Amino acid sequence: MLAPGFIDVHTHDDTQVIKHPSCEAKISQGVTTVIVGNCGISAACALLKGDPPDPMNLLGKRSDFDYPSFAEYILAVQEAAPAVNVAALVGHTTLRNNVMDNLYRPATQTEIQLMRRALRYALEQGALGLSSGLAYASAHEATTDEVKALAEELATFDAVYTTHLRSEFEPILTAMEEAFATARHADVPLVISHLKCAGAGNWGRTKEVLSLMDSAAKGQDIGCDCYPYAASSSTLDLKQVTDEFDIFITWSDAMPEQGGRMLDDIAKSLNVSLLEAAKRLQPAGAVYHCMDEKDVQNVMRYPLTMIGSDGLPNDPHPHPRLWGAFPRVLGHYCREQNLFPIEQAVHKMTGLSAQRFALKDRGQIREGAFADLVLFDPETISDRATFSSPKQAASGIKRVWVNGALAWQEGNQTGQRSGRFIKRKQ
Ligand code: ZN
Ligand code: CU
Repeated sequence: MLAPGFIDVHTHDDTQVIKHPSCEAKISQGVTTVIVGNCGISAACALLKGDPPDPMNLLGKRSDFDYPSFAEYILAVQEAAPAVNVAALVGHTTLRNNVMDNLYRPATQTEIQLMRRALRYALEQGALGLSSGLAYASAHEATTDEVKALAEELATFDAVYTTHLRSEFEPILTAMEEAFATARHADVPLVISHLKCAGAGNWGRTKEVLSLMDSAAKGQDIGCDCYPYAASSSTLDLKQVTDEFDIFITWSDAMPEQGGRMLDDIAKSLNVSLLEAAKRLQPAGAVYHCMDEKDVQNVMRYPLTMIGSDGLPNDPHPHPRLWGAFPRVLGHYCREQNLFPIEQAVHKMTGLSAQRFALKDRGQIREGAFADLVLFDPETISDRATFSSPKQAASGIKRVWVNGALAWQEGNQTGQRSGRFIKRKQ
């Protein structure tokens, strides 16, 4: 089966496409374009005064942030010549961190003006839009008005607002209303990032969540993305520590030897509570088995949902979505679980995504479009990355072309790296 190259609309590959331009985790899945700068954190436009704050530390160490302007980020990507195309959002948290001495408060009017100016400048240089990560402490104190003011800058550029909601737990509906209101205020398209019902008390609520999506979609331009797993992953958040589901520690700066173990086991061996163990591990990364499988399937099947991996390439023990998200949708969910027809699955990772982010002449196979293509075997395609062994290339991806050049063939990279930087409406 020949499909348009897959577009990974939700990535944290900002520094990866520069430091490790072979992008094997992506090209081996048939991904030909990545959108970076999600969840409020972008390497582009970052002016660090010290170590990157949580969760900017997911993107790398201080020395990895070397792109104070969007134009400098574009140049660095072009010089690195990654295997995949790259398009980028500007992160709200990144902008906050540039202009604020303390992230744990709302921005002042002056700071908002400074952020608006930086955002406008980045949009002029080709940024796709603005992302936010309001659930994280580093952006949680931002008021809705702060975000609305920034979103106003998007309108003239027809740029998009994407958001990691203020809550994916019990208050999710209120958080969605906030996102709708922000986008409506600026009259810009909205993408809700990795839409999910997180937390044991929240399981089964995708019915409410999706019917709210339906009613909002009648009045404004909205969409969402998701990854095909019932576990999330990010930095270790003390507020998410619970005994209601498994938490796996992927890395820990304070106790590196504990990376790769369950929080529960670590707590037992330290003879302390889960929360105390989590405190001692900070800063750290985690995989939270916080979702209900049925909810995951409901969101994935939803017509406005695109596929985005949310993979974390700097994690030494990454969530398997980094290497497996796209083949898992086609193999596990499409072929084995019959969640949707294959055309629909492909659309969710190509045409729908290109349209949503206005990636011109991408996401389709037609004369005049860029030849981003993936040839795969629908009978055998499957993800091989697992939670215990996550760095595994998928099987069933035969060939991948990026801008007409063959990049992947029968399990190997060809050495051709022909990805381009895609500016908004280029
Ligand atoms: Zn996120
Ligand atoms: Cu993310």
